[in-house]
Amino acid sequence: MRPLPENPEAFTDQIAELTERHLNPGLAKVLRFAGLGVEWYAEGCYIWDAQGRKFLDCLGGYGMFALGHRHPKVVEAVKRQLDAMPMPSKIMFNAPQAQLAERLAQLLPGDLQYSFFCNSGTEAVEGAIKVARKATGRLKMISTIGSYHGKTMGSLSASGREVYRKPFDPLLPGFVHVPFGDADAVAQQMDEQTAGVIVEPIQGEGGIRIPPDDYLPRLRALCDRYGALLVIDEVQTGLGRTGKWWGVDHSGVRPDVVTLAKSLGGGVLPIGSFSARADIWEEMFHENPLLHTSTFGGNELACVAGLATLQTLEEDGLVENAQRVGEKLLRGLRQVQAEYPDFIQEVRGRGLMIGVEFHEADFGELTITNMIQRGVIAAYTLNNPKVIRMEPPLILSEADAEFALQVFAESVVSARELVQMVLG
Ligand SMILES: Cc1ncc(COP(=O)(O)O)c(C=O)c1O
Repeated sequence: MRPLPENPEAFTDQIAELTERHLNPGLAKVLRFAGLGVEWYAEGCYIWDAQGRKFLDCLGGYGMFALGHRHPKVVEAVKRQLDAMPMPSKIMFNAPQAQLAERLAQLLPGDLQYSFFCNSGTEAVEGAIKVARKATGRLKMISTIGSYHGKTMGSLSASGREVYRKPFDPLLPGFVHVPFGDADAVAQQMDEQTAGVIVEPIQGEGGIRIPPDDYLPRLRALCDRYGALLVIDEVQTGLGRTGKWWGVDHSGVRPDVVTLAKSLGGGVLPIGSFSARADIWEEMFHENPLLHTSTFGGNELACVAGLATLQTLEEDGLVENAQRVGEKLLRGLRQVQAEYPDFIQEVRGRGLMIGVEFHEADFGELTITNMIQRGVIAAYTLNNPKVIRMEPPLILSEADAEFALQVFAESVVSARELVQMVLG
């Protein structure tokens, strides 16, 4: 652990003030209200703030920390690359990028031979939308209500929550949004003008919503019938989060395009990607290999982080760990729900992608504040404030899971007591 600042309280106040003055006043107020300090040091599943307080990270950077914080294998790979060639010339062959694309082609579901690397999830989705339009020569995209695909203009057009979309209208033309999990609704919208359907295998920010088993297979069949592309957004569900390598693995569906980001950089560097079949890539790039580019995309540092991440997930059996520890966490959370059904509506999830739905958003918020006070970080899902998400690192041990459960149970009791006191 690195030494704390000389005067931790004054330092914390100063950073909070700078955040309020130069970054985001509203967000600074929320963080202060929740009693959150300045992040200072992180290792494995834990984060320390500048006052030396230790937190179990059950938010996992919105699902970014599959390997926890500063995984030694990723840090080591990045340090080695830093001393050789951190950023690409963009004119020569780039070895880590080519090797990472090969590895993804081997691991991704279906026959997704080609990849493009970018720097975030939203960029990955932007690329996927362009691919769908270019490869089909069509405009219409079907997306789902409550979905989250990012906040740049293209991916925001796909995202399914009005509160983030409305202030920026008009967005991209051609997007329609249908209820998630409802294949009939997709069938009603599907036609010969449809370029693609974009969907998360489990809606993450929509509130950890799991669709019916036949949902993705039915979307696959519809896309096949109409010649549209099935774009699966695995930015949050990918890389073992759900207890299988890919969110679609629970359904056996083979997508046409897959987007990744978050965990791909091992929690050390930002990287995103979109991948597709060879025939689709041909349609995208055959006239102009520079049709889609990014200065930082595919940089060596991020790609070696990606390679080390894939290797670590495999070697350390982290997908299996996510499944095993996830089941334990899910069981424990369901026990708490069964004790307080007037407070918690439902607990659901797969692997270490778990959502706890409260009857009121305020109940969840109070529970989160209590959890933070007791040393566990959690947050609600962006498109569904009634749901607390538990997305800890996939390296989570059983002991860590027990600690999280104990804190959750105590926090629910405290939050519920407070609500009962206020309501009388
Ligand atoms: C499914 C999904 N797609 C895309 C994104 C956007 O990723 P980013 O925040 O890296 O732009 C997110 C972010 O939460 C996501 O959950």
